[in-house]
Amino acid sequence: MKHFNLAVFPADGIGPEVIAASQQVLRKLEQLHGGVRFACREFDWSSAYYHKTGAMMPADGLQQLEAGGFDALLMGPVGSPAIPDHITLWGLLLTIRQGFDQYVNLRPMRLLTGVATPLRNPGQHPINMVCIRENSEGEYAGVGGRLHQGKAWEVAIQSIVFTRSATERVMRFAFDYAQQHGHRLVTNVTKSNSMQHNMVFWDEVFQQVAAQYPTVATDQQLVDSMTARMVSQPETVDVFVASNLFGDILSDLGAALTGSMGLAPSANLNPERQYPSLFQAIHGSAFSLVGKNVANPIASIWSVQMMLAFLGETQLAAQLMHAIETVLREQCVRTRDLGGTSSTTEMTKAVCQALETAAR
Ligand code: IPM
Ligand code: MN
Repeated sequence: MKHFNLAVFPADGIGPEVIAASQQVLRKLEQLHGGVRFACREFDWSSAYYHKTGAMMPADGLQQLEAGGFDALLMGPVGSPAIPDHITLWGLLLTIRQGFDQYVNLRPMRLLTGVATPLRNPGQHPINMVCIRENSEGEYAGVGGRLHQGKAWEVAIQSIVFTRSATERVMRFAFDYAQQHGHRLVTNVTKSNSMQHNMVFWDEVFQQVAAQYPTVATDQQLVDSMTARMVSQPETVDVFVASNLFGDILSDLGAALTGSMGLAPSANLNPERQYPSLFQAIHGSAFSLVGKNVANPIASIWSVQMMLAFLGETQLAAQLMHAIETVLREQCVRTRDLGGTSSTTEMTKAVCQALETAAR
């Protein structure tokens, strides 16, 4: 019996609904495959927890998670209209990303059969892009400050931090990922035309790392024109590596191009497994949808799929991906974001049913 310890954070907004859906899928996998067990410990760290305690998580939250011996963390979206976003995000998600050195944010953006893209001419080639986002520093380093608040001479500084070690490791991850998953091209997303220090450095490191992977083709794209390329020629985009903020922006674009924010998953990885990695849909907490049972659970379920792959459960991961693909291809069950009227519950049931059918 394989046993995995998961820390589960339903978090905010539609989080509890999509996380419940994800856990239902895990239960179904256990039921169908006997040999695996996912022990989920739930944590109520969230905006509601903030309202109760004045913090998003206990002061020793990271230590608690470390002591828990978790194999992975599964999290719902974080953010509430009642609390400034920088408080909720720095209070939980960003602290975990940094504290657990989850330096890669892996974001596949694949147009699945049966899902409509807003692009008029999607081209003959399937859209299959992978964003590898630096997740530990850069624009999100959290370095800076404000002086003379409220005064006419107020100063606000948000410093961008690029280190050689962090830049190198995320680029190496991108090339390794490309090699291991049969991708041919790694695109360096940059802005070295205007940012003559950090981004020129970023390009140099990219060249140095690329030289160690002679079989992988590379190219370079300025981030602004990358948005145009993703829209006009998405079939030319394969794996790309981007800084923290650029990757954040491009992955929302990628999610929209591949059908819906309601489908897009992500993995915050510590590839060396010194710390647990965190899996989370990239969409927000969507307070307008809360309690209506209309949120698309696929982004969170697909994140579970990425978790299974990272945990080495290759077969379960393949089966879950197949189930997601089947449900979307058959188009019988579609949530609101996909132009349908199905509920969260119906979508989850459909995925579980597809798993069951495939297991027979
Ligand atoms: C994401 C989110 C976060 C980010 C926010 C909520 C801090 O947008 O995971 O893409 O910018 O990384
Ligand atoms: Mn984002």
